[in-house]
Amino acid sequence: MAGRSVVVGVGHYLPERIVPNSEFEKTLDTSDEWIRTRSGIERRHFAADDETTSDLATKAAEAALVDAGLTADDIDAIILATSTADLTFPSAATMVQARLGMTKGFAFDVQAVCAGFVFALGNANALILSGQAKRVLVIGAETFSRIMDWTDRSTCVLFGDGAGALVLEKQEGRGTSDDRGILATDLNSDGRYKDLLYVDGGVSTQSTGHLRMQGNQVFRHAVEKLTKTAEIALERAGLTCDDVDWIVPHQANIRIIQGTAKKMGLPMENVVVTVQDHGNTSAASIPLALSVGKQRGQIKPGDLIVTEAIGGGLAWGAVALRW
Ligand code: UT7
Repeated sequence: MAGRSVVVGVGHYLPERIVPNSEFEKTLDTSDEWIRTRSGIERRHFAADDETTSDLATKAAEAALVDAGLTADDIDAIILATSTADLTFPSAATMVQARLGMTKGFAFDVQAVCAGFVFALGNANALILSGQAKRVLVIGAETFSRIMDWTDRSTCVLFGDGAGALVLEKQEGRGTSDDRGILATDLNSDGRYKDLLYVDGGVSTQSTGHLRMQGNQVFRHAVEKLTKTAEIALERAGLTCDDVDWIVPHQANIRIIQGTAKKMGLPMENVVVTVQDHGNTSAASIPLALSVGKQRGQIKPGDLIVTEAIGGGLAWGAVALRW
């Protein structure tokens, strides 16, 4: 027997406003054609002016709780992966906790940028396996539209806003790779690569700042590091790429997604792709893709999933789980 963190609910929320690539043609020297062919993105959602990250997160969390048939009282902890919290403090997670009417347990944010959801899953799994929580709500939510430099065509066309959430519950498994739940994780970071992707502001430098990215440099690291971390997570679970039903990748660029799948020896039929509709939603992209993948009828109970993500830090990682 072995404890496992099993997904018992999933949900997402996207802001109402949908912005097609053509919008950017009005103000920037760019084109729908360039954005589609270089990134795979066709449209993205942007939050309304009065809509914050915790608003999006709360709606995704509510949808995940409904899917699980649970209420906030059933949850012991909330981990919210975000780099765009409403306020410097308190954490966006505690705001969600209050909005859900959850008065016990604990809540905190995890900040690992685009890899944030993978890091949050790893931490939630550790809390569950160490007996500190039985059910954890794991959320990824971002409003990256707030940190875009709208004059920088190399970044502002790539990102979007949104939120996704999972409910993880401790269940007993047999300790084999046939078990449902999180089977293995692999987390990494290397702070020497800070300059490749960062925001040039923050509390301690007394500004909000804008996202800066050397996209082609990040690209160079992405396929290699994502393939390796996915393979390590699978190996730790006693599995290989051949066992995978679905790669659910961070949705930054279709060419990175295709390159990683190819290196893993898997066809695109085994990949959940949402980048065309959401753009890069940072920590929200994986839970969004899991939720949409389930809604589309792609992801089914018992399927072996590997999620992988890379972003600012650089920070990257993967989780192997059986749905
Ligand atoms: O989620 C966090 C991790 N982030 C990522 O994974 C992003 C990784 N990187 C990427 O997705 C790609 O590198 C980009 C989509 C950002 C860029 O694609 P690329 O094929 O690497 O293009 P590039 O940066 O090498 O730029 C090629 C050209 C440049 O012009 P020159 O110097 O060749 O004349 C850019 O100035 O494309 C130009 N360019 C644009 N042209 C039209 C850059 N942005 C645009 C634009 N419209 N929006």
